[in-house]
Amino acid sequence: MSVAVYPGSFDPVTLGHYDIIERSADIMDKLIVGVLNNSSKTPLFSVEERVDMLRSVTRHIPNVEVQSFDGLLVDFVRASRAKVIIRGLRAITDFEYELQLSQTNHVIAPEVDTVFLTTNLKYSYLSSSIVKEIAQYHGDISAFVHPEIARRIEEKMAN
Ligand code: PNS
Repeated sequence: MSVAVYPGSFDPVTLGHYDIIERSADIMDKLIVGVLNNSSKTPLFSVEERVDMLRSVTRHIPNVEVQSFDGLLVDFVRASRAKVIIRGLRAITDFEYELQLSQTNHVIAPEVDTVFLTTNLKYSYLSSSIVKEIAQYHGDISAFVHPEIARRIEEKMAN
């Protein structure tokens, strides 16, 4: 059975992430979305909220699971019995960081490979940070995130 992990901060999940999730789930038997619980960053949403939001937008995809992790990504990948890490590539600007990440992970865990999916052109400009910035100034984020996620972001910004 082919198992992959799609890791990220997902603060919050965008339609660009969602597109990668749908396409990866289509080519793998099982996809585990790994939400990083990173204590050195101050995310807008707690890890529990991010997991919950991802579960709510992926609940209709039967071979997708959402879990949080902390520590090294490769440890989570090994514990999940996966052999593949999925990452999305938006533009050349992503490449240097992604290359470093995948090569480092491959040295630490040679049995794990990273597979890159190029982001759908529709979302090649999109990032969680941009969505948060627009929402902060009460701009319309409906083109960037699932309606349920937009509702939760607006609720968070109102508090
Ligand atoms: O959504 P992001 O913030 O681009 O995802 C980055 C992520 C989660 C893939 C990366 O920060 C990560 O793997 N963190 C876990 C710690 C780790 O394994 N670091 C060593 C990899 S070089």
